[in-house]
Amino acid sequence: MKDTLTPAPAGPLLQLENVVQKFGGLVAVNDVSFRIEPGEVKGLIGPNGAGKSTTFDLVTGVRPPTSGEIFFKGARVTRQPAHTRSPMGMARTFQVVRLFRGLTVLENVQMGMHPDFPDGLFPALLRGGDRRRHEAESRKRGMKLLDFVGLADRAGSRIETLTLGQLRLVDIARALASGPDLLMLDEPAAGLNDAETRNLAEMLALLKKRGMSMLLVEHDIDFIMSACDTVVVMDRGGKIADGTPAEVSRDRKVIAAYIGKRAADATV
Ligand SMILES: Nc1ncnc2c1ncn2[C@@H]1O[C@H](COP(=O)(O)OP(=O)(O)O)[C@@H](O)[C@H]1O
Ligand SMILES: [Mg+2]
Repeated sequence: MKDTLTPAPAGPLLQLENVVQKFGGLVAVNDVSFRIEPGEVKGLIGPNGAGKSTTFDLVTGVRPPTSGEIFFKGARVTRQPAHTRSPMGMARTFQVVRLFRGLTVLENVQMGMHPDFPDGLFPALLRGGDRRRHEAESRKRGMKLLDFVGLADRAGSRIETLTLGQLRLVDIARALASGPDLLMLDEPAAGLNDAETRNLAEMLALLKKRGMSMLLVEHDIDFIMSACDTVVVMDRGGKIADGTPAEVSRDRKVIAAYIGKRAADATV
């Protein structure tokens, strides 16, 4: 007998099905499928030109794929523009950090919060006490996030006075301010020094411990292997492996892709 009280299985948080992206005659992403389960940290790696950034753009909604489908929490988002994905629970950081010059660190984090208020009111339309209360709450949440990324003492500084490592952390705090279920990071360690990279890795580990699901696109293989539960490896547009770091690092196709690439680089 069917037990009608059994809840439906939660299902994957994110699912790509046979996604293809063509640029003219070039197939940048070729029939790629993978899933991210709730609480999973998924890495996306591959040699230069493998199609990582293009895949990331499809997931974040920069452009729709040529074909294939993308689902988030079971809803089809394939053709949903980027700005409609944030209220659904998707948040991203940028490789080239896009923060607002002239604003403080805290104000930049507050920019990541949803502009709507209960009843769909914008803060600017609120009067007197309501408005002050809203602003106080927003500041409090912003400070909590800055505290989390270790930058509470810089809350009042102009954003342009921060180092690249600090800007990346502010960008993560800004992304977290929207209260996402999936945090997507595009090469978060790019340009960081060793100490900054370690600091970032520790923060991502803490986020993971708190149950945050993540998609991490990264060049730094060591970083990915230590930060992720599972890793998708791409090469020339296709997915060549998908498994735990231990599984993919002994995969012959993966080794060949990296060694082949290194050998090719050495000869140019
Ligand atoms: N907007 C675009 N127009 C045309 N070709 C592109 C575009 N974006 C990426 N490509 C091409 O798609 C392929 C995959 O690129 P990309 O996704 O940036 O790789 P990766 O991030 O793995 O280095 C490359 O051959 C690249 O030149
Ligand atoms: Mg790239």
